[in-house]
Amino acid sequence: MPPQTTAIRGTFFDLLDDPWKYVGHEPDAARFIQDGLLVLEGGIIKAFGPFAELSPRFQNVPATHIPNRIIVPGFIDGHIHFPQTRVLGAYGLQLLDWLQTWIFPEELKYADPTYAREAAGRFFDAMLAGGTTTCQAFTTSSPVSTEEFFAEAERRGMRTIAGLTGIDRFAPPEFLNTPEQFYRESKRLIEKYHRKGRHLYAITPRFAVGCTEEMMDMCSRLKREFPDCWVNTHISENPTEVRQAKQYYPQCKDYTEVHEKHGLLGPRFTAGHGVWLSNDEFKRFAKAGASVCFCPLSNLFLGSGLFRIGRATDPEHRVRLSVGSDMGGGNAFSIVRVLEEAYKVGLCNNTMLDGSVNPREMDYPESERNKLNPYRAYYLATLGGANALYLDDVLGNFNVGKEADFVALDWNAGQHAMAWHQSLIAPATGPETMDQAAMLLFGVMACGDDRNVDETWVAGKRVYKKTT
Ligand code: GUN
Ligand code: ZN
Repeated sequence: MPPQTTAIRGTFFDLLDDPWKYVGHEPDAARFIQDGLLVLEGGIIKAFGPFAELSPRFQNVPATHIPNRIIVPGFIDGHIHFPQTRVLGAYGLQLLDWLQTWIFPEELKYADPTYAREAAGRFFDAMLAGGTTTCQAFTTSSPVSTEEFFAEAERRGMRTIAGLTGIDRFAPPEFLNTPEQFYRESKRLIEKYHRKGRHLYAITPRFAVGCTEEMMDMCSRLKREFPDCWVNTHISENPTEVRQAKQYYPQCKDYTEVHEKHGLLGPRFTAGHGVWLSNDEFKRFAKAGASVCFCPLSNLFLGSGLFRIGRATDPEHRVRLSVGSDMGGGNAFSIVRVLEEAYKVGLCNNTMLDGSVNPREMDYPESERNKLNPYRAYYLATLGGANALYLDDVLGNFNVGKEADFVALDWNAGQHAMAWHQSLIAPATGPETMDQAAMLLFGVMACGDDRNVDETWVAGKRVYKKTT
C-alpha cells in the first residue's frame, strides 16, 4: 500500500543556517511562516510553505490544524545517559565521587533485561514529553542495556544514536568490561543495529579516566573496521578529571590528543562537556570536523564549570556544537531548560565571580558570541545539533525530504503568569512576525519547561500529547 499523504496546518519556525554567521541580522538565518502547511508522506516532509500557496495542490489531503502553537523541529539531545533515569537529581557530589556513589551502582542494574526494559519505557516517555525526538545516548557496559534501548527506540519510531559503553577501570570490578569483551560485543551490536531502520551506532569509550590504552586501542580498531559508525565520549568536564586523565596519558599533551592518537577525532565524533578545553583544542576539534556537546544543566548541577560558547563559535575555527541534557548529570530531560541554563552560562562567562571581566573572554566579539539569543538557542537544539551529529541531511528543519519530527510549543503554558507576560510580546492569537515568534520562544526557554511542550510528533505521527 502506498504511504498515506497527510498535512499539518499551523505556525512554523525553523532555522536554515547557523545564526552565528548572521551577527546583528539573525532573522536571516531563520524561517517563520505564520499560516503554513507541512505535507507529510511515509514520515518524510513532502512539501512545506505558506498555506495559501500550497493548499490548492493538496486539497484532498487530510490536514490536522494545530492552532495557537509554534511548531518547531524536534529537539536533538546530543548527550544523555539512558541508565541514569532513576538517579537524576542525586544530591551532593561532583563528577568523580558522584559516579562512584550514585551512578555505577544504578547502571549495574541494567544487565537485567526486565529492569532495563522498564527504564527504557520511562526514559523515552520523559524525552518525548520534553519535545526531544532524537538523542545520542550512553547505555552501560552491559550489552543488554544497548539492546533494550534500541528496542524501545524502534517501538517509538525514533532516530537515535547509541552504543555499548566501554569502561575497564575506575568502577567496581563487576561493572567493568575487558577490552576484548567490549570489542566482541560492540562488533555484534554494530552488525545488528547500525543503520537498521532509524538506528545509528556509536562506538562509546566512556572517558579517558575509565579507559585504558588497551580499551582505546579497541575503539580505534572498531572505528577502522566500521568507519561509518559514530563515536561518543566525554572530555574535559571537571578539573580533577582532567588532571587524572593527564596522569593516565602522560605521553599526550592534552585530553584531545588521547582521541587524536587513536584516530577517533573527526567527523561523527562527539565529546560531551569540553568545559576545560584550551583554545588550541577547540581549533583542533574544528579542523577535524569533530563536535562538542554543551551540557549546561549538568555542568552546573555537578559544579563542573562554565562552557565557553563564544570560543567554540569563533568564526576562525567554528566547532560543531550540539546541546545535551546529560541527564542524570543534568537534573532534567528538558531541552527547553537546557537552553535556559545555556543562556545564563553565556552571560556569566563574560564576568568573573568577583565581578571583574573574565580574562578568558575579554575581547568583545567573544563576549557577544557568548550570548544565546533565541535564534542561536533554537538552532543549537535543532539544526545545529543535527549538524554537530552529521544528521543535517535528514533532521533539523522543515526542508523537503527531511524526516518529519516536530514539536508544537504552547508559549502560554508554564508558570502561572506566563500568558500575561508573553502578552507583552505578541497578541494572544499568536505571533505575526518572525521577531515576535523568536521572542515568544525566548519566553519559553527563559521561563518554561515541559509544560510548554503540547505535542510531539515522530516520523509524521503524534507520539505525545500533554494531558493536564
Ligand atoms: N564521565 C564519565 N562518565 C560520566 C557520566 O556518566 N556522566 C558525566 N556527566 N560525566 C561522565
Ligand atoms: Zn555524560
